[in-house]
Amino acid sequence: MLTTTQLQNEIIKLKKDKDVCILAHAYQSHDIWEVADYVGDSYGLSVQAAKAPQKTVVMCGVRFMAETVKILSPNKKVILSHPQASCPMAEQITAEDVIELKKSYPDYSVVAYINTTSQLKTVCDVCVTSASAVKVIKNMDSDKILFIPDCNLGAWVAKQIPDKQFKFVSGGCPIHAAVGEKDVLLAKKLHPNAKLLVHPECTADVVKHADYAGSTTGIMDYAKSGTDSEYIIGTENSIIQHLQYACPDKQFFPLSKHCVCDNMKLTTLVDVYNCLLSTGGEEIVMSDEVIGKARRCIDNMLKLGN
Ligand code: 13P
Ligand code: SF4
Repeated sequence: MLTTTQLQNEIIKLKKDKDVCILAHAYQSHDIWEVADYVGDSYGLSVQAAKAPQKTVVMCGVRFMAETVKILSPNKKVILSHPQASCPMAEQITAEDVIELKKSYPDYSVVAYINTTSQLKTVCDVCVTSASAVKVIKNMDSDKILFIPDCNLGAWVAKQIPDKQFKFVSGGCPIHAAVGEKDVLLAKKLHPNAKLLVHPECTADVVKHADYAGSTTGIMDYAKSGTDSEYIIGTENSIIQHLQYACPDKQFFPLSKHCVCDNMKLTTLVDVYNCLLSTGGEEIVMSDEVIGKARRCIDNMLKLGN
């Protein structure tokens, strides 16, 4: 049996020998962070995917993230760390739904959260992440925005851009949307001196109490650079452990003990090892047509978000 450190050393050796880049979303476990070449939020991962020099990328996260890497680097071999890791939000709306919606809102530009399928991105104008949404939409020529599918994120963005008109369709992250105002009131009662940091996938009732709302990287940067010593974390609970490693002198508390994403939790260090041995993971295969059309949507985000 290998120890965690032995397994990590094997992975580090294999990725060098095989010219593999390991990308990990911030919600991955700490043992995976330690072997990754880059860890970040969805926006950071997209930027990194476009410039990674290696020929093969292992994406530790969920399916839409691996698809984004493939779209941005079609000549690379892209492996999703666990074939069953998918974001349920990405299944909430299809390309056919968007085509129908466009008929009702012909003068609106369609902005898709990156947590969507690549097929859906082929019929949208631009995609966004929580980190890039405000900047991207501010920089768009259009003043009429059809934002899909996360209504909570959409409402948070719309509040910051009052001069544009927004339409939403129902959808969102089931994990973040399940956190309620009662969780905020209880956490604040238990930790009255703590700053509250939340992901904008949470409901407006939660976000309105926040000292900071932003992407996973934004939350981590705020807590790491802040002068306060206590923080309530309103996003996937893995972030608490990462922050505890980064700032052992500070204290971090979950906003809700239920804020756990089963899909992000599927990938283990052994899965990463198996990807490198070519005995695990799933290679992402997409048609040139889907890659070409979906790429426009992601390129627009990178252009308008920079
Ligand atoms: P970030 O863009 O903040 O990484 O969020 C991705 C995600 O899936 C949040 O639930
Ligand atoms: Fe999808 Fe929510 Fe999990 Fe993020 S936390 S991957 S949005 S289900």
